[in-house]
Amino acid sequence: MLRPILRLGDSVLAQPARPVAAITPEIETLVDDMIETMYAAPGIGLAASQVGQSLQIFVLDLSLGKDPQALTVMINPAFVERDGMQLEEEGCLSLPGFTSTVARPKRVVVKGLNRQGDEQTIEGTGLLARALQHEMDHLNGCLFVDRLRGISRDLILRKIRKLTKAGKW
Ligand code: NI
Repeated sequence: MLRPILRLGDSVLAQPARPVAAITPEIETLVDDMIETMYAAPGIGLAASQVGQSLQIFVLDLSLGKDPQALTVMINPAFVERDGMQLEEEGCLSLPGFTSTVARPKRVVVKGLNRQGDEQTIEGTGLLARALQHEMDHLNGCLFVDRLRGISRDLILRKIRKLTKAGKW
């Protein structure tokens, strides 16, 4: 089932997410819905907080559903390693229409549970490292605008305030 994607301004997006205590049927449904919602958007990643559930879960697929091997479900993840630096353009389904250049580590290793509850470790460089870091940020209540400073951040927030006032956000 598709779930509505929350936008910047919704308090759930700014909350640190709780760890998942057990993989219940409700969690399995949530994961299925997150995958469906991510592909429909379409987006390459989605965190549970973006559909209103403050839980440490994200889904990720750089192939947008074209490669069945590319889908990752991460539950209760933590960073194992982070190194280097990359500067690339980035967007977010909770900030539709906005992108900005964000500094991110060049390589990350993330450890967590898969949807069966088994431990998994994912290593990513380039876009995968960026996407993993972006989703990990969501679990901490952080959006990409929170990583920006000064004018680029103010410009986006001002435009969103205008859209909100106009009832278009
Ligand atoms: Ni995002």
